[in-house]
Amino acid sequence: MNTDIEKLLELGAAAVEAELAGYAAGDDEKFGVIYDAVRYSLLGGGKRLRPFIVLQFALLAASESGEDGQRAFERALPYACALEMIHTYSLIHDDLPCMDNDELRRGKPTSHVKFGEANALLAGDALLTRSFGVAAGNRLASGEVNCLAVSLLSECAGIGGMIGGQVLDLIGESEKFDMETLERLQALKTGELIRCAALLGCFAGGASSSLCEAAEKYALGVGRAFQVVDDILDAVGDEALLGKPIGSDKESGKTTFLSFMSIPEARDYASKLTDDAITALDKFPGAETLCELARYLLTRIK
Ligand code: IPE
Ligand code: IPE
Ligand code: MG
Ligand code: MG
Ligand code: MG
Repeated sequence: MNTDIEKLLELGAAAVEAELAGYAAGDDEKFGVIYDAVRYSLLGGGKRLRPFIVLQFALLAASESGEDGQRAFERALPYACALEMIHTYSLIHDDLPCMDNDELRRGKPTSHVKFGEANALLAGDALLTRSFGVAAGNRLASGEVNCLAVSLLSECAGIGGMIGGQVLDLIGESEKFDMETLERLQALKTGELIRCAALLGCFAGGASSSLCEAAEKYALGVGRAFQVVDDILDAVGDEALLGKPIGSDKESGKTTFLSFMSIPEARDYASKLTDDAITALDKFPGAETLCELARYLLTRIK
């Protein structure tokens, strides 16, 4: 089955990959291995969900203001790529032996398995560092908006964002959390990069403050639902389809949503969070693709 949303995701991913390939190009012989490692993880894999959200919010903002959608899309593309670079770095480091110790990612051996731990660490560092330059150097946006984008990326990826969530996630291997702490962990670990995606799109498209507020609410629902789905798939997913190992959370004794609820309850919870996300965009005509995306992410556990 190839639904409209699947086609749109494919088109978005192709545009993002073409742009990413340019940022990951490098032919210096001395540094060849690190370019290889960066390209290995960055290109040819991944759902490109976060970039898609960036681009769709830019399009929604353009339709709000009456601007040509294509122009807003192109202006958002460097931000979409910068965020995907940070996300990819987070995955490379997440898989390291000192973190989740996983050997399969995006259907291939993980970076440290292929290139060794030190190169995997450095490939992640290279992606993180470069991403700020990519956002700051967006020629289609003003210096002021680029500055906002870089600040947002750094906030969402940092200790108050994804890194903070990863720290809690590791503590959760040996300490039992309550549901409230788990929600906070997931909001940081996964939610913050998704919030970042929605707001970067809003910034690129020049969204109104009411659209920015709605985008944050949408991201909150989608981000939470996405991690509930990820936890379910870790328990009962298909490794070949997922392109990453299943059973990893259980093996490392992590606290996940399945520490608090059964799989049917977790499905219902993800569905409720998705409804919340969709409701947040109620009053924005043109938000149908973002609503479809939220529904589509749930079908991963059908
Ligand atoms: C995986 O993210 C990490 C989580 C936050 C659960 P994705 O499922 O979006 O990974 P890719 O980019 O498609 O590989
Ligand atoms: C990782 O969460 C989220 C990141 C910040 C990379 P997980 O550890 O659950 O992601 P997967 O399941 O390995 O993709
Ligand atoms: Mg992890
Ligand atoms: Mg992991
Ligand atoms: Mg997981």
